[in-house]
Amino acid sequence: MRKEAPEERELPAYGEEVFAFAHPAQTDRLDALAGSCDPATTGDLARWDLPADARCLEIGAGAGTLALWLARRHPEGEVTATDTDLRFLTGLRHPALRVLRHDVRTDGFPPGTFDLVVARSVLCHLPERAALPGRMASWLKPGGRLYIEDPSFFPASSSPDPVVRRLGTAVTTTLATTLGSDVSAWARSFPAPLRGLGLVEVGMRVHCPTLTATNAAGRAWALSIADLLPAMARTGVLAEADGAEALTHLRRPGFVDTAHAMVAMWGVRPPAQRPDRTTHRPKQTAQQPGQGPA
Ligand SMILES: C[S@@+](CC[C@H](N)C(=O)[O-])C[C@H]1O[C@@H](n2cnc3c(N)ncnc32)[C@H](O)[C@@H]1O
Repeated sequence: MRKEAPEERELPAYGEEVFAFAHPAQTDRLDALAGSCDPATTGDLARWDLPADARCLEIGAGAGTLALWLARRHPEGEVTATDTDLRFLTGLRHPALRVLRHDVRTDGFPPGTFDLVVARSVLCHLPERAALPGRMASWLKPGGRLYIEDPSFFPASSSPDPVVRRLGTAVTTTLATTLGSDVSAWARSFPAPLRGLGLVEVGMRVHCPTLTATNAAGRAWALSIADLLPAMARTGVLAEADGAEALTHLRRPGFVDTAHAMVAMWGVRPPAQRPDRTTHRPKQTAQQPGQGPA
């Protein structure tokens, strides 16, 4: 009998128990997350010229702020915003925007469909993450760009603040045991997951958001921890009273620190090569991402 690999254990999906979408605080949490990340992400995306009629895909679009930004930037194009749960996306309105229920692990797109494929804070939560960049790259047109961004909590471990150090460990451990997330080594390994896919112009960017009691990053952190506290207490990672005290610490006026880094990596599918007319010898071509699993 085949032995079940640890990553194949049945874990509840993102939004079911941990970060439950039915919980009223989720809208605020997703908005705060997006608010803290959007300036750096859109700053990256704005540097690259896409065709006016670009076809873009955002995987796991959440509250849809990035997809809407892309639609406004490419009104003659088409932006597909996907998620496994569409409740925060269905209210978005833009003529260039379409919303699609789609699971990046199991649902496909035809090879060579998109000029841009984006996923932020999605792959880190999926145990199948290692296989997904190749899958997503296969959906790119020649010349199309893959952009993946995820958090890594490595800055928390060097914080001078013992509460932040403790919370960083508690968040990393709890997300790993409840969802199968990796918010530590995965994004810290960027851009290695794009190597070997045949992409060119591979690059990366790191941004460590400043957390305060009131800014978007601080609110996102506090709301995420508040959501995780019952699971932390249940698994013995952090006692309930310690968790409540830590939250008070994060919300006190004057609190300022950094706890996680948002790490982005990108690469371009090589443009189609013109046939070489100077020689009859067949040219050697690298394996194209479109030849990967779809
Ligand atoms: C942390 S939120 C990030 C939202 C958005 N990308 C952002 O950065 O603002 C993760 C999102 O990924 C979605 N998601 C989780 N698993 C998914 C899957 N297998 N396929 C597509 N989306 C998924 C969740 O429903 C959620 O909306």
